[in-house]
Amino acid sequence: MAVLDIVNLRLYYKTLRGTVRAVERVSYRVEPGEALGIVGESGCGKTSMANAIMRTLPSNVEVYDGHVIVDGHDVVRMSEEEVRRKIRWRKVSMVFQGAMNALNPVIRVGLQVAEPLIIHEGMDKREALEIAREKLKLVGLPPEVSDRYPHELSGGMKQRVVIAMALVMNPKLVILDEPTSALDVSIQAQIMNLLKKLKREMGLSMIFITHDIALASDLSDRIAVMYAGQVVEIGSAEQVLLEPKHPYTQKLLAATPRLRADITPEFIPGAPPDLASPPQGCRFHPRCPYVMDRCRREEPPDFEVDGGRYVKCWLYGEEG
Ligand SMILES: Nc1ncnc2c1ncn2[C@@H]1O[C@H](COP(=O)(O)OP(=O)(O)O)[C@@H](O)[C@H]1O
Ligand code: SF4
Ligand SMILES: [Mg+2]
Repeated sequence: MAVLDIVNLRLYYKTLRGTVRAVERVSYRVEPGEALGIVGESGCGKTSMANAIMRTLPSNVEVYDGHVIVDGHDVVRMSEEEVRRKIRWRKVSMVFQGAMNALNPVIRVGLQVAEPLIIHEGMDKREALEIAREKLKLVGLPPEVSDRYPHELSGGMKQRVVIAMALVMNPKLVILDEPTSALDVSIQAQIMNLLKKLKREMGLSMIFITHDIALASDLSDRIAVMYAGQVVEIGSAEQVLLEPKHPYTQKLLAATPRLRADITPEFIPGAPPDLASPPQGCRFHPRCPYVMDRCRREEPPDFEVDGGRYVKCWLYGEEG
């Protein structure tokens, strides 16, 4: 059974400018032990989608629907209390974007890692701290880090602490939202190695969110490319990187210097759309070099190309 099955997930926000359609009918599954990379430019809805899975939603949500199936439960339809008791941190946890800079400065690291065990599990403090030390060890930190305050740690160490926090209740799936964006390249590589180790040794499933497709390729078994609130292409990391099908994926790869050292990176012409008034039809059509009449009128469905690979583009329809 998939550890996560998302069907037609939507998340819209109410704003002064109107409705912002941050997540628009997104569907995919994550299998046990699999790492799925979610890739797309800033503002395409990656964080919104992750929050919709965790149901950590801001107060101005206007539409939240579809299905988020975890362990036979639909998170979208559960009460907040049930999500807290059965799902969040226990089955699915998340390393929030920027979490390493949001650690509580006046509480020792070990207690911050142990906190959910004390609060949600009613575990006694000593026992919870023991588990926290184990998790710190698991992420490559010496046990004495448990007694330190966040300001005594380097950026890389703080990032390991927030990963330990996400692991403390032994979830099957961890969502990592840009976990290395704030770190320099050498530290970034160490964190990527840690994530690979956790995946390999614990069979942990991961959703790895990044704006950097090269980074995603380092860890991910499959890659989903997001554009303007939608998944426009999903397939094995190899398929998506070596043979991108969606015109946006092709542009994104051409704009990535590290994958094509021999070629000058291109810029994607135009800007991503305002999600308060996304383009009619295909949301990529104002920037697409292959745009056809139909693209301006009708939104393309997900066409299956090869086995298990989906592309949201009319070029892959019967008449395409
Ligand atoms: N609470 C909110 N209220 C209104 N708009 C929001 C809110 N959170 C995010 N957005 C908007 O939703 C869109 C997607 O944002 P986000 O999910 O943060 O994208 P990403 O993580 O890919 O950068 C953006 O246009 C952003 O401005
Ligand atoms: S549906 Fe049309 S506009 Fe959209 S990506 Fe495909 S060819 Fe381009
Ligand atoms: Mg984000």
